[in-house]
Amino acid sequence: MTHSIPVSLPDSSYNVAIAPQQLPQLGTTLKTLKLGKKILVISNPDVFNVYGETVMTSLEDAGFETASHLIAAGESHKTLATVAQIYDMALGQRLERSSTLLALGGGVIGDMTGFAAATWLRGIHFVQVPTSLLAMVDASIGGKTGVNHPQGKNLIGAFYQPKLVYIDPLVLKTLPDREFRAGMAEVIKYGVIWDRELFALLEQAPQLATLQQLTPDLLTAIIARSCQAKVDVVTQDEKEAGLRAILNYGHTMGHAIESLTGYGAINHGEAVALGMIAVGRMATHLGLWSTEDEGRQRALIAKAGLETCIPQAIAINDLLNTLQWDKKVKDGKIRFILPDGIGKAVISDQITERVIREAITEVTED
Ligand SMILES: NC(=O)c1ccc[n+]([C@@H]2O[C@H](COP(=O)([O-])OP(=O)(O)OC[C@H]3O[C@@H](n4cnc5c(N)ncnc54)[C@H](O)[C@@H]3O)[C@@H](O)[C@H]2O)c1
Ligand SMILES: [Zn+2]
Repeated sequence: MTHSIPVSLPDSSYNVAIAPQQLPQLGTTLKTLKLGKKILVISNPDVFNVYGETVMTSLEDAGFETASHLIAAGESHKTLATVAQIYDMALGQRLERSSTLLALGGGVIGDMTGFAAATWLRGIHFVQVPTSLLAMVDASIGGKTGVNHPQGKNLIGAFYQPKLVYIDPLVLKTLPDREFRAGMAEVIKYGVIWDRELFALLEQAPQLATLQQLTPDLLTAIIARSCQAKVDVVTQDEKEAGLRAILNYGHTMGHAIESLTGYGAINHGEAVALGMIAVGRMATHLGLWSTEDEGRQRALIAKAGLETCIPQAIAINDLLNTLQWDKKVKDGKIRFILPDGIGKAVISDQITERVIREAITEVTED
């Protein structure tokens, strides 16, 4: 059974299709869209070695002319130089305006392929086949594409919507556990800021730290609700004028933790989880939610196998200084997304340094 979530935007509408065990049907699904004959698949060896053959066969059986181009795995390859390689391949394969670039991989592949699609011939068709949990519930939806600049992450980019996001949750069976947990941090985020039923679904799940004990039905339901949350938010605010900022819950603090620990030691999802822990404590101090709500959030984060205490090695003054440099800071004031009970969020730039300091201290390990 395919679960389809429509994304309706002023200039482009498309579907997020959640199709368990239906990766082999990708080609026939694409056939129903008005795409040209040629599809260039961009992937990395980790993913392509396992799913490449299924995808290419499916596309060819549906009558597409295909080619593939692999990029080494990892954030360090999310650069303009790699995009230039995609352009060379597009040229070599004589891609036309009606041709398609298809991203098969995690968020790194998706962001980069989307940017290449947005810019080659001023825009060719783009299809997302996300294979990491984070890419399924977050990166593949909403049209943000781009690459890193040596001076900062995602500094070069474009808003560019895909023609389809095609998710087969079962491909997660080969995703490393740590990557799975990182994606789960974003899933929990949606439960806290947007969807209390998703939050409850996560509370009822037998566990959240690995895929093994999640039935395909439960996994599909969790992914579908998360995708719906992201779709709800981005369709109400495509270009991040206001509401979309709530998706940054836990992220301002998370980015500071990532940059202080040198990117890698603590990955993005782990840092966001710690960010949610700290900001969750701030929300308790401000009376936005109860100690009980905060405890429920902490319990879910722990259940997902994520840390719930900021490491002692991170000095509070360094953390406060780094927070000031985040690009979400407006006029010198740090803007926080705060939970307003479970399933709702508010934005505030009125949080005093005392509250921030107190909360961080309380959630740092002894
Ligand atoms: N565009 C957006 O709105 C948005 C939102 C959030 C994050 N992002 C971006 O997404 C990127 C992070 O994405 P990510 O967490 O998916 O990282 P990633 O793309 O690096 O993937 C993580 C690792 O998992 C591997 N992998 C992926 N799927 C697999 C599978 N099914 N089986 C085995 N291995 C698999 C990858 O090869 C990689 O080594 C960052 O660059 C971030 O900036 C973009
Ligand atoms: Zn994130």
